[in-house]
Amino acid sequence: MTQHAQLDWQDGQPHSVVFGDVYFSRDAGLDETRHVFLKHNQLEERFAALPADGQFCIAETGFGTGLNFLCAWQLFEQAAPPSARLHFVSAEKFPLTPADLARALSLWPELADHAAALLRQYDTLTPGWHRLPLAGGRVTLTLLIGDVLDVLPELEACVDAWFLDGFAPSKNPEMWQTALFEEMARLSRPGASFATFTSAGVVRRGLAAAGFEVRKAPGHGDKRHISHGWLPSAAAQAWQPPWFAAPPQTGGERSAIVIGGGIAGAASAASLARRGWQVTVIERLPQLASAASGNPQGVLYTKLSPHLTPLTRLVLAGYGYSLRMLRAELEANEDNWQPCGVLQLAQDEKEEKKQRELAALGLPPEVMRLLDRDSASAAAGVALPSGGLYFPQGGWVHPPAWVRHLARHSNIRVLTSQTAVELDFNPHDSSWVAQGPEGPLAQGRVVILAGAAETAGFDATRHLPLKRIRGQVTQAPATESSAALRAVLCGEGYISPRRHGNHCMGATFKFDADDLAARAEEHRENLDMLRCLAPSLHQALQADRLDPAALAGRAAYRCTSPDYLPLIGPVAARDAFAERYRELARDATLRPDAPAPWIPGLFVNAAHGSRGLITAPLSGEILASLLEGEPAPLPRSLMQAIHPSRFLLRDLIRRKLRD
Ligand SMILES: Cc1cc2nc3c(=O)[nH]c(=O)nc-3n(C[C@H](O)[C@H](O)[C@H](O)COP(=O)(O)OP(=O)(O)OC[C@H]3O[C@@H](n4cnc5c(N)ncnc54)[C@H](O)[C@@H]3O)c2cc1C
Ligand SMILES: C[S@@+](CC[C@H](N)C(=O)[O-])C[C@H]1O[C@@H](n2cnc3c(N)ncnc32)[C@H](O)[C@@H]1O
Repeated sequence: MTQHAQLDWQDGQPHSVVFGDVYFSRDAGLDETRHVFLKHNQLEERFAALPADGQFCIAETGFGTGLNFLCAWQLFEQAAPPSARLHFVSAEKFPLTPADLARALSLWPELADHAAALLRQYDTLTPGWHRLPLAGGRVTLTLLIGDVLDVLPELEACVDAWFLDGFAPSKNPEMWQTALFEEMARLSRPGASFATFTSAGVVRRGLAAAGFEVRKAPGHGDKRHISHGWLPSAAAQAWQPPWFAAPPQTGGERSAIVIGGGIAGAASAASLARRGWQVTVIERLPQLASAASGNPQGVLYTKLSPHLTPLTRLVLAGYGYSLRMLRAELEANEDNWQPCGVLQLAQDEKEEKKQRELAALGLPPEVMRLLDRDSASAAAGVALPSGGLYFPQGGWVHPPAWVRHLARHSNIRVLTSQTAVELDFNPHDSSWVAQGPEGPLAQGRVVILAGAAETAGFDATRHLPLKRIRGQVTQAPATESSAALRAVLCGEGYISPRRHGNHCMGATFKFDADDLAARAEEHRENLDMLRCLAPSLHQALQADRLDPAALAGRAAYRCTSPDYLPLIGPVAARDAFAERYRELARDATLRPDAPAPWIPGLFVNAAHGSRGLITAPLSGEILASLLEGEPAPLPRSLMQAIHPSRFLLRDLIRRKLRD
C-alpha cells in the first residue's frame, strides 16, 4: 500500500533515504525549478498566449514536495488570462506526509500562500488517484499515487508540457525506462514540450527513440547540462475500445441542462460552473435535495472490499475527494456536517475476518485502523459489543446543505417544481431543449441526466438498467446518555451522533416497494438493527419505549445498477450501437475502430446506490473532464467500469441485444 517518503532532514532540507538524493537544490531550489522546468518549457510565453477560456496541462514524474507545482501555479497566475485554467497531473510513488510537505514548503516564504492552499487539501494519501481543485477550480491538481510506470498507462490526457523529475537516473534507474518515454509520447499533444534537470545519455536517447526532439542547455548557475525538447508530431496510438472513448467535443457554447437536483445533479452543475459553463438545474420537487439526497444525516461510509474491486477503488477516490471538498467548502457544524469519525463494527465472524484482511492492506492509520472493543468504545463514547474498523476522518453530512452549497454559483440557475418530460435535439445548432408539460424549460448544448432511476425515463436512455430500492431512515430523540455518542456507528445499518436533538438511523432496503410513505414497521426494523449494533445505545435511547408509529423519519429511493457501480458518462444510441458492433456477438475479441454512435451532448450521472455522498461529488469532476478534454480524475480502467455503455456491450456479447 502507500509507502510514504522517508526523509532525512540535512541542514533543514529534505533528502530521500531510499534514493540517497535531494528533493531540490540546496541553495537554489526555486531558481533551479524556474530555470529547468518553467523556462525550458517556455511556460511564461505559452501561458500568456492561451485564449480566454483556454486550458494547459502539465504532467510531472515525481511530485515530491510540490515545489515545481507551486512555481508553475504561481507563474500561471501571473501570466495566463484570468479565466484560463491549469491542470497539473503528477505521479508519485512515495508521497510525503502532510507534516513533511509542510516542513519542506516552509523553506519558500515567497510561495507561502500557494503552499497554504495546497496544504489545506493535501492529506494522507491512499493508493490511487486524488483530485485537488485549487484556486476556486482555476487550478486542478491530480495526484497519481503509485509507480509512474504503473499509473501513466492508466492516464488519459493531452499533455502540453512535461516536468521530467524523479531523482538522478544513476540513483533511480528503474524509473527512467523506455516505457516511460513511450507513455509520455502517447499522452502528449503534438508540439508538447519536456524539460528535465538531467542530460544523461540514457534519458536523451530514450526520449529521442520515443519521437521527441531533444536539446541540451546549460544548467542553472554552474550546474551540469539539462535537457529539453518537444514532440513534433503525435505518436501512434494503440487501439482503445471505441465504446468507452470520450465523445469528441465540438466546442461552441458552454451551456448545460442538468436534470435532477440531488447530490449528483448539484455536483455535475458545480464542476461545470467552476469551469465557466452556464448551467440550468431542473428539479421536479419544490426544493433541491428532496429525494434520496434529502435525509437529515447521511454517512460518509466506505464499506470497502479487501479485494480492491473497482467499486472499492472508486469509493477510495471518492471518499478522499468528498472529504477534501467538505473541509474546503462547508463549515463543519451541526447544520452541515461533522467529521466525527465512523466506526464499522465487526458484528460477526465473517465481518471480523474481512476487517482483518482490510487492515492488512496497510491503508494509513489516519485513514483507517482496526480497533479492539475497548478502543472502539472509547472512540464512540458508548459501550460497544465489538471492535471494528475506524475511519477517523469520516463522519456524517446533512446532504441538503451540501447540495444547496454546490448549486450556489453565479453560473448556475435552479428551476424547482419543474419536470423535464422530453428532450428535443436541434441538429442545426447542436443544442437541446428540455421540455416541461407546458413548454420549454431550458436550452443547452449538453444535457446531464441526474434524475436517479428516472434517468431511464427518456427515449434515449430507456435501455439503461437502473433499479430503485426503497430505504427508510428513522429519527429518534436524543437523550442525556445517547448524547455521549461521538462517532457514527455502522454495521448492518448505521446511527449518527445527534444533530439538532435527534439521532438518525437507518436504513431499510425494500426492493419491490413503490410508495414513499414512512412505515411504522420499517422504523421498528431500524430500532431492531440498532439493538444488534449497539445495545447500550438502544437502551440509552429507551428504544423499547418508543412507539414506531410516532417516530419521525423519511423514505426515498436509492438508484442502483446491476453491478452496483454508478453510470457516469456519455450515452450511445442503443439500436445504432447494436448494429455497429454486431460482430462482437460472434467474436468478442474483435477490435473494431468505428466510433460509438454517441447521442450528441447527452450524458448520465446516476446509480450512486447507498454511497452517493462518496461517489456523486467526484462524478461532477468525471463529467467535466470528459466535456472539457481534461485529464480524468480516475484511472482508465475505472472510467470504463462506470461507463454507461458497459451494459450495452455486455448485452451485445451475451446476444441479448438485438438490432
Ligand atoms: C434511506 C437512504 C439512506 C441513505 N443513506 C446514505 C448514507 O448514509 N450515505 C451515503 O453516501 N448515501 C446514502 N444513501 C444514498 C444517497 O442518498 C444517494 O446515493 C444519493 O442521494 C443519490 O443522489 P442523486 O442525486 O443521484 O439522486 P436523488 O437525490 O434522488 O436526486 C434525483 C433528483 O432528480 C429529480 N428528478 C428526477 N427526474 C426528474 C425530471 N424528469 N425532471 C426534474 N427532476 C427530476 C428528483 O426529483 C430528485 O430530486 C441513502 C439513500 C437512502 C434512500
Ligand atoms: C527530486 S524529487 C521530485 C521533486 C518534486 N518535483 C518537487 O517539486 O519537489 C523525485 C520524486 O520522484 C519520486 N519518484 C521516484 N521514482 C518514482 C517512480 N518510479 N514513480 C513515481 N514517483 C517516483 C520520488 O518519490 C520523489 O518524490
